[in-house]
Amino acid sequence: MTEAAFNTLDDLSVAGKTVLVRADLNVPMQDGAVSDTTRIDRLAPTLTELARKGAKVVVLSHFGRPKAGPDTKNSLRHVLPALSRAVGQDVAFAGSCVGDAAKAAIAGACAGDVVLLENTRFHAGEEKNDPAFVRQLAELGDLYVNDAFSAAHRAHASTEGVARLLPSAAGRLMQQELEALAKALETPERPVCAVVGGAKISTKLDLLGNLVARVDMLALGGGMANTFLFARGAELGASLCERDMADQARAIMDKAKACGCEILLPEDFVVATEFKSGAEDRVVAGNAVGPEEMALDIGPATVALLARKIATARTVVWNGPLGAFEITPFDAGTNAVAAEVAKRTQLGALLSVAGGGDTVAALAAAGVEDTFTYVSAAGGAFLEWLEGKDLPGVAALRKTQA
Ligand code: 3PG
Ligand code: MG
Repeated sequence: MTEAAFNTLDDLSVAGKTVLVRADLNVPMQDGAVSDTTRIDRLAPTLTELARKGAKVVVLSHFGRPKAGPDTKNSLRHVLPALSRAVGQDVAFAGSCVGDAAKAAIAGACAGDVVLLENTRFHAGEEKNDPAFVRQLAELGDLYVNDAFSAAHRAHASTEGVARLLPSAAGRLMQQELEALAKALETPERPVCAVVGGAKISTKLDLLGNLVARVDMLALGGGMANTFLFARGAELGASLCERDMADQARAIMDKAKACGCEILLPEDFVVATEFKSGAEDRVVAGNAVGPEEMALDIGPATVALLARKIATARTVVWNGPLGAFEITPFDAGTNAVAAEVAKRTQLGALLSVAGGGDTVAALAAAGVEDTFTYVSAAGGAFLEWLEGKDLPGVAALRKTQA
């Protein structure tokens, strides 16, 4: 996959056209308001560029996981004020993403206006990628822009189907994500070090199997590292550990060896007998966790090891926290390693890309979100990309399609 494989906004002539933009407005809410506007802020440049170039901009998105048609809780109306603020103009709203309501709202808009259509998942045809529903969406516009990398792992009508009916292009955010990800894993400067944390290996087997074949070093932390240490014969006391996954862990270690990928496991831990903030803790060697104790963070020797290894790398790909980062002091290992990556990135020695689920929260808490080369706002899509999967929403944008 190269940049040239996709059209971007530079390839579209949009003046006087109605452009359907698939956004990911699936943002977190608290007390009826958007509590984190990252996705909206990152989307806004695509909308304002299209508006400035004279398009009628029609925004499509899902919101939540409604299962039985329209409901108030999952209405995109809740997101309208934050979207209007982000684009710096009043955004119109249509109470349905297809049919008369959508057509009327679009007909009432002028070039340069932005119209938000109601949640695509209020219609069963969306998740089924139903051809009739795809046609209903496509007939609303002349061109299609997908700016929802974070929803590109879904083969839905608005993420995949419409791209096959209308001339289509990647929006600026999608373009930025694809360029960053390509630099990190497809054509990276080596050595590449992947840092993977999180609780369980059972949810990341495909990801680990793909990474060991592509990176030079794989540093493991969080609960999943315990399973690897257990597979090598260590006792982990009361730590989170998927003992029934030992064979899978061994298979990944064997594959890594065959591929020339060095696996870096914790050499020491910060342990405690209780999982709570301020619990009494101590540092122990990786093979000396007491029967009542839980490994809740990597220890200082491991932080030093990872810092040394990261100093030799040219590229870092990061997914998942290295300890129980939600609770102090067990965020210290994640923070220290993140600070090291941030420092090397600032020096220009490293390209660093992170994403997926808890990762953004962990890196934001570490204060390094703006220092990494790129922190993706995608969760599941980032994970599937790390698994080496071709994301349907991305595949449908490719110029030469199978
Ligand atoms: C996300 O928030 O990860 C995306 O918007 C996808 O949402 P989904 O998991 O409900 O498809
Ligand atoms: Mg999700």
